[in-house]
Amino acid sequence: MDTPDHDSLVTLRDVDALRHRVRSWKKAGLSVALVPTMGALHRGHIELMERAHAMADRVIATVFVNPTQFGPNEDFAAYPRKEAQDFDLLDKAGVHVLFAPTPSAMYPPGFATSVRLSGLSDVLCGPLRPGHFDGVATVVTKLFLQAQPDIALFGEKDFQQLAVIKRFTMDLNIPVDVIGVPTVREADGLAMSSRNAYLSVGERAQAPALYAAIIAAARDIAKGTDPFVATDAARRAILAAGFRSIDYVEARTSDTLASLGPGQCSGRVFAAAYLGRARLIDNVEIES
Ligand code: PAF
Repeated sequence: MDTPDHDSLVTLRDVDALRHRVRSWKKAGLSVALVPTMGALHRGHIELMERAHAMADRVIATVFVNPTQFGPNEDFAAYPRKEAQDFDLLDKAGVHVLFAPTPSAMYPPGFATSVRLSGLSDVLCGPLRPGHFDGVATVVTKLFLQAQPDIALFGEKDFQQLAVIKRFTMDLNIPVDVIGVPTVREADGLAMSSRNAYLSVGERAQAPALYAAIIAAARDIAKGTDPFVATDAARRAILAAGFRSIDYVEARTSDTLASLGPGQCSGRVFAAAYLGRARLIDNVEIES
């Protein structure tokens, strides 16, 4: 149901109400920014909202824990859901509409369509989380078509996701400008993430080792170290810091996500590793 006060944040739950609102803004000549999220908002999300605010007249934040991007053994059920707290944060950030659809509004009975990319979604997290990027691409395509924003903002912490979203937006001629926003970090370097809530106090103290290891690898690659040697050292440092296991630490280009070979130093270092039950991901640019 719509909240009546139009000066403060309005929650919309169905697509028709969202379309109606966006149509009236566009008629008035206002530009629209979309910030898709799965909620449990942190400072990284608020940074996206603030950037959106600076770039467009109206800001829509979406909160939807998208079931199709979680594998059967992943944390869909446990994923933090904090809608009341999210509402207050979005209201303070000056967001105009919170679009929080129900699962059946997004995936009505008989839903049979999927957006699937090859290439970008076949590396890094892709093979380790089968179907994940299909779920992301499908839900983000739906959100783009539902909200029809001029721009949409995503964090660079999920750099592969950002690359995937830019790719299908271009491939499908969706008229949305996709903008990446640098990762927001805690004072000790840990990338902000809703999944940091899974960390115990001890694990939280160990967690910045992931960032420290990939920053060191990126610096070494920039100085000429073979990317395989540098990422191997990062892997050892992450395990030595107490991480349970590593999914990957790899140096790849920023556009096509192709592996960097010896002598190549333009791109990013990507990592995913388990600390306790949390799967942390991060990436940094190789500044050469
Ligand atoms: O990054 C996220 O929070 C999600 O993957 C997204 C982009 C909102 C799609 O569900």
